[in-house]
Amino acid sequence: MPTRRNFLKQTGAALGYSSLLHSGIPLFAQNSLANQNLSSSVYTGAASLAARAARTRLPYGCAVVPERLNMDMQYTRTIIEQCSILVAENAMKWAAIHPQPNAFNFAGADKLLAFAQAHNMQVRGHNLSWHQALPPWFKMTVNRENAQAILVQHIQTVAGRYAGKLHSWDVVNEAIRVRDGRSDGLRTTPWLELIGENYIDIAFRTARQADLHALLTYNDYGIEYDSPNEERKRAAVLALLRGMRKRKTPIDAVGIQSHLHAGSQADFGRGLKHFLHEVRKLDLQVFITEMDVDDSKLTTDAEQREVAVAAIYQKYFDLMLRDPQVTAALTWGITNRYTWLSHIHPRKDGGQSIALPFDTNYQPSKAFFAMGIAFDRRKVQSVAPALPAKVSNSSAIHVPA
Ligand code: G3I
Repeated sequence: MPTRRNFLKQTGAALGYSSLLHSGIPLFAQNSLANQNLSSSVYTGAASLAARAARTRLPYGCAVVPERLNMDMQYTRTIIEQCSILVAENAMKWAAIHPQPNAFNFAGADKLLAFAQAHNMQVRGHNLSWHQALPPWFKMTVNRENAQAILVQHIQTVAGRYAGKLHSWDVVNEAIRVRDGRSDGLRTTPWLELIGENYIDIAFRTARQADLHALLTYNDYGIEYDSPNEERKRAAVLALLRGMRKRKTPIDAVGIQSHLHAGSQADFGRGLKHFLHEVRKLDLQVFITEMDVDDSKLTTDAEQREVAVAAIYQKYFDLMLRDPQVTAALTWGITNRYTWLSHIHPRKDGGQSIALPFDTNYQPSKAFFAMGIAFDRRKVQSVAPALPAKVSNSSAIHVPA
């Protein structure tokens, strides 16, 4: 039984990409047509996600596990072909990069930076302060007396090491949780309990001093849907951002993680548009930082799940990309073969999570075509500066040791 990729090569591109795009054929029929008639060139080079996004000055990329770059060459090739910006899924978090109180481990982060530079890609830093992924020594060592000094030293060391080399930093990650009951909606994180609410300003000010160039970002999830909880969270995030602006805390962007759900009762639209409008008034850029779609609640077959997931990609990107302030888009991984969702939200039927633009065999999924068409249809240019020229020649795969 030939694999889909061999079959694609044998049939060649009977339908060129552009004729498919402007054929007026509904997206999902296109994809099935595409599956029968396209050669691999239809989704690389000028037809890659990075190239199609770059036409409106939008870097597109994904979260990466640096160690995997040496182990899975299809993973590496797909990233090179499709991405112009990367973020470490875990390698730049405290647990990985600061494993001992007085020891840092930059191996994973350095490898990612070297790989990205070799392929002319940008890199996002993720993240400088969070309540998760803290190393085991944190609980035993950090207290009210030393917490601020430890946070400042971490940021100075890590952001200082990569100063001038990063597109942006997630300086503070997920600091809002309204249900914790505070009037400001702040999550009662270890940082808040040990330093106080000004830990956020301290983190941003320290990051700016350490790196004058990286776009300093507040990153959060659960602010996409039109539901009462997410409406309350959006209001709390906006209050945080307005307060930071008022205190002249250095901040450049807000990251909307965009972990979406297929089969969700809620929908997104009015609330998210209003949020984008309010963020624009604060003169902040918006990044789609961690997009994926959780299909674990769907009980239909894989083909129908793929259609449902692609429809969410299409609708979400069509909405978000109307806004010129949206200046970067990343998915939380590139292939369903490696998605955090299969561990954290596994399907009850044991089926493969369908969440990302490539399937487990590195073939483009319907979400790939949906995202690509949304990039093609974008009418506005991102407000961000033009992107560095992208080298997507995957034959020159360079993976640092
Ligand atoms: O590296 C250790 C390994 O040494 C150990 O043997 C193994 C077993 O415990 O754990 C490994 O660390 C795991 C790490 O991923 C690397 O694989 C952690 O346990 C595990 O908790 C961690 O999960 C990550 C999670 O963040 C928590 O840091 C997920 O891969 C990652 O996809 C997820 O990403 C987050 C974003 O950073 C923030 N937004 C939400 C998003 C999804 O939760």
